Amino acid sequence: MRPDVSLPLRPVLDSEMAYREAGRTDAPVALFLHGNPTSSYIWRNIIPLVADVAHCIAPDLIGFGQSGKPDIAYRFEDHVRYLDAFISEMAIGSAYLVAQDWGTALAFHLAARRPDFVRGLAFMEFTRPVPTWEEFLRDKAEREIFRRFRTPGEGEKLILEDNAFIEGVLPGATVRKFSEEEMAVYRAPFMTPQSRRPTWRFPNELPIAGEPADVYATLERAHEALSASLYPKLLFAAEPGALVSPAVAEEFALRLHNCRLVKLGSGLHYLQEDHPEIIGETVAEFIAEIEAEGFARPEAADLGRVRT
Ligand code: BEZ
Repeated sequence: MRPDVSLPLRPVLDSEMAYREAGRTDAPVALFLHGNPTSSYIWRNIIPLVADVAHCIAPDLIGFGQSGKPDIAYRFEDHVRYLDAFISEMAIGSAYLVAQDWGTALAFHLAARRPDFVRGLAFMEFTRPVPTWEEFLRDKAEREIFRRFRTPGEGEKLILEDNAFIEGVLPGATVRKFSEEEMAVYRAPFMTPQSRRPTWRFPNELPIAGEPADVYATLERAHEALSASLYPKLLFAAEPGALVSPAVAEEFALRLHNCRLVKLGSGLHYLQEDHPEIIGETVAEFIAEIEAEGFARPEAADLGRVRT
């Protein structure tokens, strides 16, 4: 038996996407974007804390969770196409973006193309183009695992056959231990090697040392737009983190306009699983404050302000 609820489905392009929804439909939308190999399930303990102030919508990315698995390459550009179509099908005109991992790449790219869509951005453990492998992942052993994921033949064996993202990366980059029920939900979409293809493609799309060139260039442009943007931002960081250490987060937040940094304490990559209460409460406060004040263009003195 599936221990998660059955989610509603929306026809999207040639397939369908599942989503979690909560809150009043006349409230501003908070769009929750997950990463690899999770689903909207990762937001399950956060959404109820945000639902008082926002219409929460959390899609399962195409190929993930309870969404369809069309016969596509599952490249970043495919996720962009399906997410754009989902946003259009759901008639979402603007939103607070709440994102982690690949969800942040989708959020930055969306914000770069449609800055007026974004009411605010809350993000954590984010992807960024890194010029060298040494700048990708704090831990050397983990870095080597990702090199193997990107090695033809070896990556397919580890991820498609051994299900490494679900059985290794997910529990390994979460501080607390998952219950059997939680692992059953995360495993359910990936019972066969073919079904795991979306979880293999994502590490092969990570923009590291200029490769893949198209994703690298797209995300460089998205980060340039992020640096220039004025909409309010909230960055969560944990100690020691995986993609983003507290030191990297601090420097990053200082370089952005209108960005507040919140330190969560101990955490690796899947911060929503270790700190749902503080993330949910802080996102709700962030939204309530912006809605109460209206969108205030930051004063020069506020630019790059970091609060911890
Ligand atoms: C990733 O999918 O980008 C990732 C997953 C776990 C740890 C670090 C990165």
